[in-house]
Amino acid sequence: MSSEIRSILVAGSGQMGSGIAQVAAQAGCEVQLYDVEEERIQKALRSIGDHLAGSVAKSRITEEQREEILSRIKGCVKLESAGKADLVIEAVTENIAVKQSLFRELDTVCAAETILATNTSSLSVTELAAATRRPERIVGLHFMNPVPVMKLVELIRGLRTSDEVCEAVTRLVQRMGKTPVEVNDYPGFVSNRILMPMINEAVYAVYEGVAAPEAIDQVMKLGMNHPMGPLALADLIGLDTCLAIMETLQEGFGDSKYRPCPLLRNYVHAGWLGRKAGRGFYRYP
Ligand code: CAA
Repeated sequence: MSSEIRSILVAGSGQMGSGIAQVAAQAGCEVQLYDVEEERIQKALRSIGDHLAGSVAKSRITEEQREEILSRIKGCVKLESAGKADLVIEAVTENIAVKQSLFRELDTVCAAETILATNTSSLSVTELAAATRRPERIVGLHFMNPVPVMKLVELIRGLRTSDEVCEAVTRLVQRMGKTPVEVNDYPGFVSNRILMPMINEAVYAVYEGVAAPEAIDQVMKLGMNHPMGPLALADLIGLDTCLAIMETLQEGFGDSKYRPCPLLRNYVHAGWLGRKAGRGFYRYP
């Protein structure tokens, strides 16, 4: 690998994967956006194109820059394409078995020096690393939603992650115009260990009839200056992801203070997953 990361494969073209592909291309990297279905990739590329068109309309970038950024992102449906990437960032579903199986495959198709990063929001980076023969080249890069806007990337150092890998991804994150904050590998890291119990508590407040979702969100917006209320934020993140993170916290710490609210579970069972499903605590047209 050259000293700087120049080519990246992003695995998973959902809202996080497409956002990561966008900021990587904006940072000048050659990006491959991998997913199992061509249709999903095309949807992600359209959404990136639309976001960049918004930046052109606001005169932040020119039309030529938009086209240049887009030309750096190529879709791919074969994981073998990861062979020559300097870095792979995995952003698939928040499930340890799915991620481990992907990491196992990546370990076989990627060059020995390729760094494998996970965008997991709470799962163990060290455990994912154990599925490969390169645990020192595995690291957590936890982007925040919406990726193009949020300044933070939580950089998770697994127990066996090397200093060299942490330094290489730190420089990349800075080139993306974001601030990396290094944390150690424990359930939920820092961001979701603090954020998710707050969201879960907001769901309990709905469940126990303390107030309506709109009122709870208003209290937190106007009273605590949060940019959006916890329930609107849960809808943005995805209620399935919120539930998965609460379960990881509960299992990882064995502490009942992390028990997911039964109402959150019910919403997920009903398919009311938030914005992406058109309905969560709010309805979306
Ligand atoms: N994608 C890209 N850009 C977006 C966007 C999206 N989904 N949503 C909003 N934006 C952009 C807008 O285009 C706008 O850009 P400009 O400043 O260039 O005009 C900017 O963000 C502000 O948007 P709006 O004026 O429409 O609305 P707003 O001021 O209310 O901001 C927000 C929207 C940025 C989402 C803001 O409400 C916010 O910061 N919310 C909190 C988000 C947050 O906490 N994220 C972390 C979630 S936790 C997580 O991601 C980790 C995890 O593991 C669960």
